Amino acid sequence: MILALESSCDDSAISVIEIESGAILFERTISQNEAHSGFGGVVPELASRLHAENLPKLIADAASYLPRLKAVAVTNAPGLTVSLAEGVAAAQAISLAMRIPMLAINHIKGHLYSLFIDRAATFPLLTLMISGGHTALIAAYGYDRMSEIAATLDDSIGEVFDKAAVMLGAGYPGGAVIENLALEGDENRFSFPMALKNDKRFAFSFSGLKNSLRLLLERLGAIDDQTRRDIAASFQKALFCHLLERTRLFLSHRPCDAEYFGAVGGVSANRRLRLAFEALAAEFGLKPLFAPLKYCSDNAAMIARAALEAYRSGDFCDPSKVAIASRISLEKR
Ligand code: KG4
Ligand code: ZN
Repeated sequence: MILALESSCDDSAISVIEIESGAILFERTISQNEAHSGFGGVVPELASRLHAENLPKLIADAASYLPRLKAVAVTNAPGLTVSLAEGVAAAQAISLAMRIPMLAINHIKGHLYSLFIDRAATFPLLTLMISGGHTALIAAYGYDRMSEIAATLDDSIGEVFDKAAVMLGAGYPGGAVIENLALEGDENRFSFPMALKNDKRFAFSFSGLKNSLRLLLERLGAIDDQTRRDIAASFQKALFCHLLERTRLFLSHRPCDAEYFGAVGGVSANRRLRLAFEALAAEFGLKPLFAPLKYCSDNAAMIARAALEAYRSGDFCDPSKVAIASRISLEKR
């Protein structure tokens, strides 16, 4: 078995995977949403302190698996460095105390493998990585052959969902809150300008949309509940229009040898996005792939699943030399 830890942002998570079958035997996450909600976003030092409290509890919960481990895996990049450091320290301790090898896992590869927890891995694969920390289009040919082909020039889409919810006084984390408000809103009531309209670069940009929302709210002043729902629906529509229009631009200009088109990360849990994404995939003859809802947001099962690939290819690291990084290219460990 491999034990995996994830602490790149504000969720402390643990999972145990069986090497031969790939079955997830154990998984648990302690969310910090409540602790950060008053701040409208993740406070890195608070996240780090809570990981230091929660990771030992999670490891104690998984104690019965410890004697049967062949390796310990941990997310080492990208993410909040003070948060990553807590998971890495815990994994180092397990590796050294139990004399088992260590696997350092890229968080984005983990998200990509969330697609393959309950089904066999399929490559080549094109994937939209849409979360609080990332917005990118990734071409993957295998565990060790992934590259980013388009990324956001500024904010990530999840970050903008979170900021928009704060501006609307609607709570945190923003994505699910806005999705729920939007269910009863009129998505055609407000229009937002599209970023990069005449720009042919393969890239996304969300900061302009966030700014237009701020200006709209300043202009409207106090708003009633229905207006809040209409704004949420119109804004969500604008975010997804931009995301999918830019992706369409890429798909119509670059021949694509992938059969499957995946969407991963917290934002891929959104039902409106899933419908629009399926339609886009069908337009280009691609088969859409999503992770089960519980594996869209940060979790350790996806890290364990990616770790299985690292284990099979013997991609171990020296526990005393694990590099922690807030940003890292997909080609590097
Ligand atoms: O993947 P994730 O848990 O963490 C990162 O790696 O960043 O993604 C968190 C992000 C947050 O910005 C959250 O607002 C967004 O995913 N999110 C959603 C939904 N659920 C979570 N965005 C849109 N619709 C949702 N239903
Ligand atoms: Zn993530």
